[in-house]
Amino acid sequence: MNKKNMYIALVAVLVVVAFLIGGMVDLSPQEQAATQAEVQTEVPAEAQNEIVNVYTSRHYGVEPVFDKFTEETGIEVRFTSGTDAMLRERLKAEGANTPADMYIAVDAGNLWLAAQDNLLAPLDSQALIDNIPENLRDADNRWFGLTKRVRTIMYNPERVSPEELSTYEALSDPKWNGRLAMRPSTHSYTQSLVSSLIAAHGSAQTEEIVKGWVANKPVLIDSDTRILEALAAGEADVAITNHYYLGRILQENPDFPIKIFWANQDDRGAHANISGAGVTAHSPNRENAIKLIEWLSGSGQEMFASTNHEFPANPDAAVHPIIAEFGEFITDPLEKSEYGRLQADAVELMNRLGYQ
Ligand SMILES: [Fe+2]
Repeated sequence: MNKKNMYIALVAVLVVVAFLIGGMVDLSPQEQAATQAEVQTEVPAEAQNEIVNVYTSRHYGVEPVFDKFTEETGIEVRFTSGTDAMLRERLKAEGANTPADMYIAVDAGNLWLAAQDNLLAPLDSQALIDNIPENLRDADNRWFGLTKRVRTIMYNPERVSPEELSTYEALSDPKWNGRLAMRPSTHSYTQSLVSSLIAAHGSAQTEEIVKGWVANKPVLIDSDTRILEALAAGEADVAITNHYYLGRILQENPDFPIKIFWANQDDRGAHANISGAGVTAHSPNRENAIKLIEWLSGSGQEMFASTNHEFPANPDAAVHPIIAEFGEFITDPLEKSEYGRLQADAVELMNRLGYQ
């Protein structure tokens, strides 16, 4: 072996070892083969750096968005999907060796927890400050909301008239006994909604509201899509789900019979949550990660929000026509970090009152 070949072999071994230590994001056998082929053909070091690794619990429609980013910047996006809790555990276990540059989460509570666990690094980015409203991002710039999702009331218009609907609180009225479909208390969507009630009313009054919900014996279904299908099938009359699940169904089936009702319009507004992202504390490709999060907050905003029928966090981005038809509404201006701060109280309260 001459000197040059020995050098190439050494570089190849080092790259493979670095990948093994880093615990590579999930790759298919074809991708693994491609990676090895790249190593063997001695790709220049700069080109190998043009990647960004993402851990994402948001999986619906992310691929075309990442492809678009790659097309515009030349930076390849590799992503690993999983639940938020699972991805945070993985980040914690990997520590300084993580291959992940970015954590994309659904629900502000999850972003808040990631920041609490020191998994995210603060970003000094004027673009993010300009693009994302203050109440949708972390005060210490560790995470930024990128889309808004509104958890509101859904109803079957054959069984309920919109005049009968008003607030989340009013669903505790005995008139809804046996007519509600809800998400279980174990899901972060429910936890954030109850956190917002605690923020608005305090624990004692929230207890009365949740007691009323439980007394109405809601059917508990751990999927917003299945909740909407249950409404359409007449298994319940009224439910609480995120708005985009209805948008998604309407895209496929414009005649789907369920209607949306914007909750709490005469007081604080409907419960809005976010999906968002932060750059990891040990990001190996930090510059690329910053480019990606800035792009997602700016020129990629419309596409990122629209592929999941969400509202863009950036007020300058256009809203998908299907959800624009849901009409104007106001949302609860509560700081999103409160969902994280109050989550443990919300869970304890629901457990105590028998909300499963
Ligand atoms: Fe969702």
